[in-house]
Amino acid sequence: MNTGFSLRRMAAADLDAVAALEQAIYPLPWTRGSFDFELHENPAALLWVAAAPGGEVAAYCVAWRLDEELHIANFAVAAAFRRQGLGRRLLGHLLAEAAELGMGSATLEVRTGNQAARQLYRRLGFADVGMRPRFYSDGEDAVIMQLAALPRVEMVESRPPGHSQP
Ligand SMILES: CC(C)(COP(=O)(O)OP(=O)(O)OC[C@H]1O[C@@H](n2cnc3c(N)ncnc32)[C@H](O)[C@@H]1OP(=O)(O)O)[C@@H](O)C(=O)NCCC(=O)NCCS
Repeated sequence: MNTGFSLRRMAAADLDAVAALEQAIYPLPWTRGSFDFELHENPAALLWVAAAPGGEVAAYCVAWRLDEELHIANFAVAAAFRRQGLGRRLLGHLLAEAAELGMGSATLEVRTGNQAARQLYRRLGFADVGMRPRFYSDGEDAVIMQLAALPRVEMVESRPPGHSQP
């Protein structure tokens, strides 16, 4: 189980670890500078990490607030920590925060061949709503998935009372 993991907002001190995971996981990774930009320059970005009991970054997620819609831009769990429910927990947490912020829906693109991610998204209520042919620079198509109505769920974890948006 993932009970020893804590969810918190991404901080500058996480950037090296996040960028290293990104390099290890994706064939076409975001650069460290991309995460730095999202963290420091993009007021529409919501960035979270899941930390393992020892403090190591185990998962991360970057999403954008597009008016009423949340767009999941980047999301991954380190290979050593998969299949423990951590991805679902982290994304569920982000969706809960989006609902609290008044957003009504969420979207994302996922590689057609990425069955693990597509299954996770389906488990969270996302459905396939379209395709983007050759969306990825290596030629693979993307499936557009949407969660049409964000669930109203319990208070977001790890948020001190009175805390407002970053
Ligand atoms: C996709 C990914 C985020 C899943 O993270 P995870 O923490 O292992 O997922 P969870 O343990 O929360 O799994 C939740 C559900 O998703 C589905 N799922 C997750 N991994 C799966 C796999 N390899 N095969 C089939 N279903 C899978 C299952 O339904 C699972 O529920 P279950 O364990 O009760 O069967 C992870 O595999 C990953 O980081 N992959 C590489 C990066 C990536 O693809 N990111 C998404 C880009 S759009």
